[in-house]
Amino acid sequence: MQVPFLDLKAQYEAIKPEIHQALQAVIDKTAFAGGPFVTEFEQAFAPFCGCRECVGVGSGTEALWIALRALGVGPGDAVATVPNTFIATAEAISFCGATPIFVDIAEDTCTMDPHLLEDCIQSRLAAPKNGQRLKAILPVHLYGQTADMDPILELADRYELAVVEDGCQAHGAEYKGRRAGSLGVAGAFSFYPGKNLGAYGEAGAVTTNNTTLAEQMRIFRDHGQPRRYYHDVVGWNGRMDGFQGAVLKTKLVHLERWNDARNEKAAWYRRQLADLDEVVLPGVADYARHVYHLFAIRVRHRDRVLAALTEKGIGCGIHYPVPVHLQKAYAFLGHRPGDFPVAERIAAELLSLPIFPELTEEQVAYVAASLRDIVTTRNR
Ligand SMILES: Cc1ncc(COP(=O)(O)O)c(C=O)c1O
Repeated sequence: MQVPFLDLKAQYEAIKPEIHQALQAVIDKTAFAGGPFVTEFEQAFAPFCGCRECVGVGSGTEALWIALRALGVGPGDAVATVPNTFIATAEAISFCGATPIFVDIAEDTCTMDPHLLEDCIQSRLAAPKNGQRLKAILPVHLYGQTADMDPILELADRYELAVVEDGCQAHGAEYKGRRAGSLGVAGAFSFYPGKNLGAYGEAGAVTTNNTTLAEQMRIFRDHGQPRRYYHDVVGWNGRMDGFQGAVLKTKLVHLERWNDARNEKAAWYRRQLADLDEVVLPGVADYARHVYHLFAIRVRHRDRVLAALTEKGIGCGIHYPVPVHLQKAYAFLGHRPGDFPVAERIAAELLSLPIFPELTEEQVAYVAASLRDIVTTRNR
């Protein structure tokens, strides 16, 4: 049996006529750059996230950057985030001219540890580094589960820091019944094709309840022009494509069902792997509605297990093998192994198993049985 890590073709086959109709409508209207299909999607995605506003842009990376920038993050500022994320989280901070500072994670959820955030804020206040001023917090809702937001928001309030959520893996995830993207002052989403809500190309969006901020971001993503060829600020071309708006609006209708299906697959894995001491299953916090963008287990001798699963025709991933503070690109920050021990330990053990809405019970059973066979045989 072959089990791909992700099967975008299966999803496309299930919604083919709707997608073709949506794409044809964009062609008929020649509304390719921004335009009505993007607006329609924005008007649907904002309430989906429990927000008043949504601003469609070119990618999740751009959404993070535009949100931070609109909040005034710039040179001389620092932004607190986590080291176990896709590099884009840190890149967005860097492209504001600011510096990412890292906070280690809670081991069970792999998201920002609020206690360590408090330590970080206090040590920065006591001894500011290179004159940098901590301006914002950028927690990452990793794998489809939000960070523990109430204590983070409370600290943000106390120390007057802005909170931008990296919701790029968490479309529809909930924290105590509130949706990802509505918890901080802004939320950034990626619609990279493999995400829970994926475009047919690159796309992203910022959600917010702050109408003034949304307006600023709308103007910025369109060359700083509130009116065509009247440029009030130096802006950027960050418009979402018309095709992506149309595809995303079409797919959004199915997202709840797809997220439920992901939860079903996760429950199957849990049932079949629960008794395996060699495998640590992903933790789910009491506060969370998880949407399982990824199903990241932890195993010892991860690389050998990964190779053996690959040999059995099972597609797996590692999210992520090297924490951001140890990436070459961020060597200039001067971090060393041991600086963020939880993120580093976990990076060596993480293994993402296939999870997507169309995954069958037989495929999950095959993955679980193969994994059992590999980890228990090795121990004999
Ligand atoms: C946590 C996280 N942040 C940011 C991004 C960047 O999004 P994009 O690839 O759309 O630029 C991604 C996705 O790739 C992500 O997973």
